[in-house]
Amino acid sequence: MKVLIVGAGGREHALAWRLRKSPSLSQLWVAGGNAGTAAIATNLPVNPEDVEAVASEAGALRADLVVVGPEVPLALGLVDRLSSLGIPAFGPSAAAAQLESSKSFALEVMREAGVPSPWFRVFHDQSEALAFIDGHAGPLVVKADGLAAGKGVFLCAAREEAAAAVRACMSQGVFGAAGEAVVLEEMLEGPEVSVFAFSDGEHISSLAAACDYKRLLDGDQGPNTGGMGSYAPPLFWDSALAGKISRTVMQPVIQTLAVRGIPYRGVLYAGIMLTKEGPKVLEFNCRLGDPEAQVILPLLEGDPLELMLACAQGRLAQTPVRWRDQPHVGVVITSGGYPGTYQTGLEITGLEQAVADTHVFHAGTRLVPGEGRAKVVTSGGRVLTVVGWGDSLEQARAAAYRRAQGISFQRAYYRRDIATAGVARTRPSA
Ligand code: AMP
Ligand code: GLY
Repeated sequence: MKVLIVGAGGREHALAWRLRKSPSLSQLWVAGGNAGTAAIATNLPVNPEDVEAVASEAGALRADLVVVGPEVPLALGLVDRLSSLGIPAFGPSAAAAQLESSKSFALEVMREAGVPSPWFRVFHDQSEALAFIDGHAGPLVVKADGLAAGKGVFLCAAREEAAAAVRACMSQGVFGAAGEAVVLEEMLEGPEVSVFAFSDGEHISSLAAACDYKRLLDGDQGPNTGGMGSYAPPLFWDSALAGKISRTVMQPVIQTLAVRGIPYRGVLYAGIMLTKEGPKVLEFNCRLGDPEAQVILPLLEGDPLELMLACAQGRLAQTPVRWRDQPHVGVVITSGGYPGTYQTGLEITGLEQAVADTHVFHAGTRLVPGEGRAKVVTSGGRVLTVVGWGDSLEQARAAAYRRAQGISFQRAYYRRDIATAGVARTRPSA
C-alpha cells in the first residue's frame, strides 16, 4: 500500500518511522517532511496547509491512504476533500475536527455527552465578558475560542488579569479571528495527562496516555511552548483510570458526534486534569500530540497501517489495539530563543552516534548540500525529540539524556528534568 503523510514535525517523523514497520507498506511519501523523514520516505515540496495541493498530489500518486498529522489541514477540510476524491484518509472531517478548532463547540459537545469538564461561559461581546468577570470571585481561565497555536490560554488569578486577557482577544485582536469569541472557564488543579483513542466513528480502541511538559524551563517554569518533553506511560496510569476515562469521556463524545451525524474518525486526544473530583477534560485535539506521538507510537503493537485503514473504513471493532507498557521518555531539543525568535540554518552534529535504546525524531531540520554529503541544519523552533527507553522510567530517561548530550548545534537547549520522579508524579496546573 502507498501512503502519504501530511506534516513536517516530530510527530510526522514518528508516524513515518512507525508506518515503515508495517508489512503492508510499499511506498511512503511525506507532504512537507524534514531531514529525518527524508531518510525513510520521500519528502514532497507540498505545503501541508494547502488542501488543494495535498489532495491533488494524493490523487496523482494514487495513494491508498493519507495520514494527516497536524490540526490545521484537518480544520481546513483536507479529509472532506480527499473523501470527495475517493481517497481514504486517517483523520476527522472538518466538522468533527471542530472539537479542536472551536473550544465552544467542544464544550457544547461535552455538555451534551455529559463529559466532566470545568464550568464555562462563551462570550461574543466584550462588555458582557467584562461584566461577568466583575461579578466573579476567584481565579478564571480565559481562552480565545479559535485555533491560537497553544498561546490563547490565560490562567488568571486576579480579575484585572482576566479583564486584560479578554481585551487582548476581543479588542486588541492579538489572536485575530480566533479571539472574536472568548471562553471563561473554571480553573482546575491536579496532574495533567494526554489521553489518546483511535476511533472509526462508532467504536474506540483501548487508550494510550502520556505526560507532556509544556513549560520552557525546568520545574515547569517560564512560558508555554508546543511541548518540551514527554513520557509514557504515566506513573499513575492503570487499567482502572483508563477504563474510567474510556467510559466517561471518550465513548460518550464519539457517540454524541455519531448521533449528530458527524462521525469522528482518526485519533482523538483528550487533555485531562485529574482533579479531586475525578478526571475532567480541559480540551480535545483532533490528532496525535507532539511530543506525545514520539513516546506512544513506539508502544503501539501490531500493524499501524491496518489500524489506520480500519479507522477510515469503520472496521475498528474487528481490529484490536494493544499498547506495550515499556517506559519511553522524549526530550525535545530546541533552538535557543524558542518560543520567541531564534536563528535557523545551524549545522547539527552528533546525529549518527549510536546509543543503545534511543532513537532521534526530527522536527525543525532540513538537509542542505555539504562537502561530499548533505548536512543537517536547523529549520525551526523545536528541532529534535530524542527518545530513550528501558525497563524503568529512570533507565529510559538516562538513555534519552545520554543521546541528547552527544548532539549539538549553536544555542541548542533542552530541559534537564523531563520524567524526573517529582515532576512526573505531580504536575502544577499551569
Ligand atoms: P491548552 O492550550 O488548551 O492546551 O491549555 C494550555 C494549558 O493551560 C493546559 O495544558 C493546562 O495546563 C492549562 N489549562 C487550560 N485550561 C485550564 C483550566 N480550566 N484549569 C487549569 N488549567 C488549565
Ligand atoms: N503536546 C501538546 C499538543 O500536541 O497539543
